[in-house]
Amino acid sequence: MSEPRVLVVFFSRTGTTHMLASTLAGMLSADLEEICDFTERRGASGYIRCLIDSWRKRPAEIVPAGRDTAQYDLVVVGTPVWAGSVSAPIRAYLLENQMKFRHVAFFCTCGGLGSQSAFEEMRMLAGRAPVAQCKVSAAEVQRGVAAVSLALFVSTLKRHLAHYKALEWAC
Ligand SMILES: Cc1cc2nc3c(=O)[nH]c(=O)nc-3n(C[C@H](O)[C@H](O)[C@H](O)COP(=O)(O)O)c2cc1C
Repeated sequence: MSEPRVLVVFFSRTGTTHMLASTLAGMLSADLEEICDFTERRGASGYIRCLIDSWRKRPAEIVPAGRDTAQYDLVVVGTPVWAGSVSAPIRAYLLENQMKFRHVAFFCTCGGLGSQSAFEEMRMLAGRAPVAQCKVSAAEVQRGVAAVSLALFVSTLKRHLAHYKALEWAC
């Protein structure tokens, strides 16, 4: 039976989601891909641009991803929550890759509110339900206390992958 291939994809404006994505990629022995876009999102004016994109549900123009999503058994997608929404770059990534996903899982970082609506959007944009989803607050990531949530998330993903690979092998 071949080893499952897992990709962790994320966007991060200020580094929090990046930190979580790197940890998850290590725990899952996954490849890691950062999504970048062409919009200036630094500073106060960048913050306003993020808000406007979220209110308008506007996907960003993103740099083409380097990794082929279709080559992975599971793609784990991470975003910061912006005004109760998925970030504009991840909105674009999910839309562009909708037809290529085999299995998806979602994670987000936030101040504390809006993760459920962001996850709901991600599910619609990906065109499928996630295997699992995990919300971690920015404070938990910064204090390094996200371990329990991550361990639970990763164990659910590993269980799912083992089951999926066993079924694939049997067919
Ligand atoms: C434009 C904008 C809108 C945000 N809206 C929310 C929100 O609705 N709810 C929330 O809990 N946090 C919100 N946040 C906080 C971020 O989700 C949080 O700080 C996140 O961890 C940042 O991730 P990053 O460092 O990877 O960019 C918002 C941040 C930005 C920049």
